Amino acid sequence: MEVSITYRQLLKNDKLQYRKLRLESLNHSPENFEATYEEEYGKAELSFEKSLNEVHKNFIGFGAFDGDHLVGIALFKRSEYAKTSHKGEILQIYIREEFRNKKFGLALLKSLIDFAWKTYPSLESIRASLIQRNLPARCLLYKLGFTIYGIENSYFKTQDGYDHVVLMNLEKVNYLKK
Ligand SMILES: CC(C)(COP(=O)(O)OP(=O)(O)OC[C@H]1O[C@@H](n2cnc3c(N)ncnc32)[C@H](O)[C@@H]1OP(=O)(O)O)[C@@H](O)C(=O)NCCC(=O)NCCS
Repeated sequence: MEVSITYRQLLKNDKLQYRKLRLESLNHSPENFEATYEEEYGKAELSFEKSLNEVHKNFIGFGAFDGDHLVGIALFKRSEYAKTSHKGEILQIYIREEFRNKKFGLALLKSLIDFAWKTYPSLESIRASLIQRNLPARCLLYKLGFTIYGIENSYFKTQDGYDHVVLMNLEKVNYLKK
């Protein structure tokens, strides 16, 4: 059966679903995120949940919905400082496993990025960082026009060893040309 997915900004009423999916992402893909499930699970409110209490000046959350069910998330954070307010960052990208490889991640990020350019007319570029061996996320970001500008060696340290982090950037002018 064809699944019809919709993409929209996360609002106050989505807090519970956001929390569940964010914790699922940390539990199912622990290697891809800086925070751990154990660190976040016990918190009364996750940091982005707080931002959902009201429309936040510098945070936007977007969700992919199958009907009313949240199946994907991605967040955007604009720098809070005047000198760097032309820059932002994409965080917490996650698509529930059974919904992957159907272009939903791509559509979710496009919706979020388009919304961010509109919301912040002075925004010029968006960064993202991901572990070097995360090929799906790297290819996804390439597809959107992100390019690599650096590598931070040994950024994650766990009992399994170190992971390097790839730093990527998307310029508004390049995105709009695509
Ligand atoms: C990364 C992730 C969000 C991709 O979501 P998705 O909905 O499956 O991706 P899409 O179907 O929209 O794919 C879009 C593009 O991404 C790339 N991509 C996605 N999955 C890929 C894979 N397994 N291998 C290689 N490239 C892949 C491809 O370029 C693809 O375009 P193509 O099919 O035309 O080649 C998903 O795999 C995920 O949630 N992973 C775990 C969490 C994670 O890694 N988050 C990122 C942290 S930075």
